[in-house]
Amino acid sequence: MFKRLLIILLLLCSPISALAGADNKTQLTPKEGAHQFPFFDYLTPVWSYNGQVPGPTLRARAGTTLVVDVNNQLKEATSVHWHGLRIDNAMDGVPGVTQEPIKPGERFTYRLRLEEAGTFWYHPHLNAGEQLERGLKGVLIVEEQEKLPFSQDVVWLLDDWRLRKDGTIYPYFNTRHDLMHDGRWGNAITINGKVKPTLTVTPGERIRLRIINGANARIFAGSLAGLPMQVIAVDGRPVSTFFPFDHFILSPGNRVDLDITIPDDAGGRIFQFEDRFTRRPHVLGKIKVRDEKPHKTPQFAPPKAKGFIPAEIFEELPVTKTWDLNAVRGGRFGIGWAMNRRLWPTADKADFKLGKPVKIRFINSSSRLHPMHIHGAFFRVLEVNGQPDVELFTRDTVLVGPRESIVIGLIPEHEGIWVAHCHIQSHADAGMMTSIKVDKK
Ligand code: C2O
Ligand code: CU
Repeated sequence: MFKRLLIILLLLCSPISALAGADNKTQLTPKEGAHQFPFFDYLTPVWSYNGQVPGPTLRARAGTTLVVDVNNQLKEATSVHWHGLRIDNAMDGVPGVTQEPIKPGERFTYRLRLEEAGTFWYHPHLNAGEQLERGLKGVLIVEEQEKLPFSQDVVWLLDDWRLRKDGTIYPYFNTRHDLMHDGRWGNAITINGKVKPTLTVTPGERIRLRIINGANARIFAGSLAGLPMQVIAVDGRPVSTFFPFDHFILSPGNRVDLDITIPDDAGGRIFQFEDRFTRRPHVLGKIKVRDEKPHKTPQFAPPKAKGFIPAEIFEELPVTKTWDLNAVRGGRFGIGWAMNRRLWPTADKADFKLGKPVKIRFINSSSRLHPMHIHGAFFRVLEVNGQPDVELFTRDTVLVGPRESIVIGLIPEHEGIWVAHCHIQSHADAGMMTSIKVDKK
């Protein structure tokens, strides 16, 4: 009896401790902050989670529940979306769809039941073009139930900023220029908030390098020439066959996990992490090998995809839904980015049935880039420009290039309303978003 009273009391007093059975609790406070870039003698005003840019890397184990109490100390409303996580729809963080915006001074508690291990990230889903650009983003790692014996588990969150000479963030968002092009590309690229950082390793070490593209719009094609490595996961999920990393396109939203072995004889060497997406390759960071005796390389096989969607399921299936991607006149900014000529929120939406395979075709009728992302699902690329082109992995974001057409297959596994949008934030803000309703039978 007394115990019950105590519990009731606790429930009344503290909204956090009310969440009994939670395995893990943490706090995220979106608020203003300052960040040191190496180009300036002064600090750059940013918007941050917990005062840091990027926000803290959250780590929790698969099979547990992560409870995140968000306390909005910004001057505007926000939300937190857990990119790539397949969770309860009410926790997906999309204002107007799955929750109310978190107003200034208000709190919202996210309860994330973490089912699958992998590399995920979090960011606002409101006024995202501005909020992400000002620094609101962070990484969420869901660890395997049995930790893989890598020598180091490293996170590289790529970001891209447009800074002014006075050290401030260029304060105009969704400009006509950004809207007419591929969104807001910056003039400063960072990894974990730092410009050209160096990762130090020892010969013989085996490194898990998790690379996340958290930029508003910039696309990367990373390369780490000279190092033996394989891609073991894409968009948070293990791949079915390991493959080389070179030329892998990382659109905003995409992640890769690399399994890198530092050669025994690499002591003293420096390897460059380069971006080759743009005409001129540029260095983003470095891996520096200590001039030391080699460590013994851990021997183990990383997990391969389980429950992988076989491509054959989709062979006979007609396309369930086609979305044509193009610009239209109108919308909030005068230039709209549309799916089937309609702008969010009056979008051309889709209805799918739980467990029933569907095929989606994205046709890019424009000459711009559209990395299309679907919430609460992963999918397989089946066709590119009418030709079979089946990928050996699943994703949650795929780049649809200029005039390109891509067919993907997916099996809806989670009920709810899940948005699908371009991950170039200016395009999404200008209407390039829709939703998919998944329900039973
Ligand atoms: Cu990172 Cu709606 O997405
Ligand atoms: Cu786009």
